[in-house]
Amino acid sequence: MDSPTYHFSLLSLLLLMFFSVSGQTQTGGQIKHEKQHHKHTFRPTSLFVFGDSYADTGNSMKGVSNAWKPPYGITFPGKPAGRFSDGAVLTDFVARYLGLRSPVPYRMRRTVMPEIMKRGVNFAYGGAGVFDTDIGIPNVTTQIDYLEELIKHKVYTSADLTNSVALVSVAGNDYTHYVAINGSFQALPSFIASVVNQTSLDLMRLHGLGVTRIVVNALEPLGCLPVITDLFLLNHCDDTFNNFSALHNSLLNRHLLRLNRITHKHNHPPTFFVLDLYTSFISVLTHPTTYNIRQLFKPCCVGVNASYSCASVDDNNVKRYKVCDNPKTAFFWDSVHPSGAGWHAVYTKLRTMTSFQRLRASH
Ligand SMILES: *[C@@H]1O[C@H](CO)[C@@H](O)[C@H](O)[C@H]1NC(C)=O
Ligand SMILES: *[C@@H]1O[C@H](CO)[C@@H](O)[C@H](O)[C@H]1NC(C)=O
Ligand SMILES: *[C@@H]1O[C@H](CO)[C@@H](O)[C@H](O)[C@H]1NC(C)=O
Ligand SMILES: *[C@@H]1O[C@H](CO)[C@@H](O)[C@H](O)[C@H]1NC(C)=O
Ligand SMILES: *[C@@H]1O[C@H](CO)[C@@H](O)[C@H](O)[C@H]1NC(C)=O
Repeated sequence: MDSPTYHFSLLSLLLLMFFSVSGQTQTGGQIKHEKQHHKHTFRPTSLFVFGDSYADTGNSMKGVSNAWKPPYGITFPGKPAGRFSDGAVLTDFVARYLGLRSPVPYRMRRTVMPEIMKRGVNFAYGGAGVFDTDIGIPNVTTQIDYLEELIKHKVYTSADLTNSVALVSVAGNDYTHYVAINGSFQALPSFIASVVNQTSLDLMRLHGLGVTRIVVNALEPLGCLPVITDLFLLNHCDDTFNNFSALHNSLLNRHLLRLNRITHKHNHPPTFFVLDLYTSFISVLTHPTTYNIRQLFKPCCVGVNASYSCASVDDNNVKRYKVCDNPKTAFFWDSVHPSGAGWHAVYTKLRTMTSFQRLRASH
C-alpha cells in the first residue's frame, strides 16, 4: 500500500475508470416488465433516480461522455445512448422490478410529454458523488435540488410522491476523487464515514420531500472491479479494496437502521431499503455459470493496450479498443461497469434477497 508505484498506478487507474464520464454502455436486450404475481404488491407510479453511472441512463454530456460513444450501447439499444454499458443498467432493472418503465433522463425533461414526466425522472449523472467530484457534474444534493424544483413547479403532487420510489446509487466516485486529491489511503476510513453521513442526509431529504420508499445501493466490492484487479494482475478480488467497501456498507447499514427507526410509522413498511450490490456482485463472481457468465474479470471492451480504454479512437477515428465476441457472457463491460448481462445477473441475485423483495411488499 505504501509504495509510490502503487499509489501512482492506482490513482491513474481509478481516475481513468471512475471518472470516465465517458465510457460505458448498456446491457443487453429489451427490458420486459416484471409480472406482478402477488395481490399485496406495492405498485408505485413513478421512480426517481439519483447518483452516478451505475444509474445514469442518458444525462452525461454528449461529445464528452463515453456513454455517448461507440461501442457503448451496442447490445441495447444498438447504438450509444448515454448508458455506461453495452445494454441496460441498474436503473432499468429496478424499474422493471417495480413494474415501471425506466424513467426519462433529466436532460430530456423539456422535450417529453407531461405523462412521461409523471413516471418519474432519472437525475443520475455518470461521475457524480455525494460530494463534488470536480468535473462539473451535479452531486447528489444538486440532483435532489432538481427534483425539489420540479415539485415547486407542480410537476408532482404529494400523492405522486407518496406513490413513488427513489433509487440512489453511490458507487464510489467520492472515493476515487478523494484518493486522487489526497494521494493516500490512510485517511480513507474517516472519509468513508463522511460519505455515509452525507448519504444519509441526502436520503432523509428525499424522505422530507414526501418520497415514502427509498432504496440505496450498498457499495459494490471495489476490489473486484477490473480497474483494481488489472492493477495487481489478479484473477480474483483484492481484499484491501473489498474491505473499504465492507466498511462503507457496515456504516451505511447502521445509518439505515437508525433512519428507519426515526421514520417508523405503525403498520407501515420501512422507508429505507438497501440494494446489496456487494453480495450480488460476489455471488455472480463466485458462481458465474449459474448466471450464464463465462468471462469474469476481463472486461468485454478493453483498450488495445494499457494506454487506452474502451471507446478510445485516434485522430482518424481508428479504434484503439477491442470488444469481446460475446458481450452476453462477460460480467464487466469496461473496467468499472458491468455489462448488460452483468447487470442482469446481479438483478437475478438481488431478486432472491429479502432486503430487495421488501421494496415491493405492501407491509
Ligand atoms: C453539491 O454541489 C453544490 C454546487 O456545486 C455545492 O454548493 C455543494 O456544497 C455540494 N454539496 C456537497 C454535500 O458537497
Ligand atoms: C489526507 O490524508 C491524511 C493522512 O494520510 C489526512 O491526515 C488528511 O486529513 C487527508 N486530507 C483530507 C483533505 O482529508
Ligand atoms: C457522522 O455523523 C455522526 C453523527 O450522526 C458523527 O458522530 C460523526 O462524527 C460523523 N462523522 C463524520 C466523519 O463526519
Ligand atoms: C479484510 O477483512 C477481513 C475480515 O475483517 C480480514 O480478515 C482481512 O485480513 C482483511 N484484509 C485486508 C487485506 O485488509
Ligand atoms: C499502445 O499502442 C499504440 C499503437 O496503437 C502505440 O503507439 C503505443 O506506444 C502503445 N503503448 C503502450 C504502452 O504499449
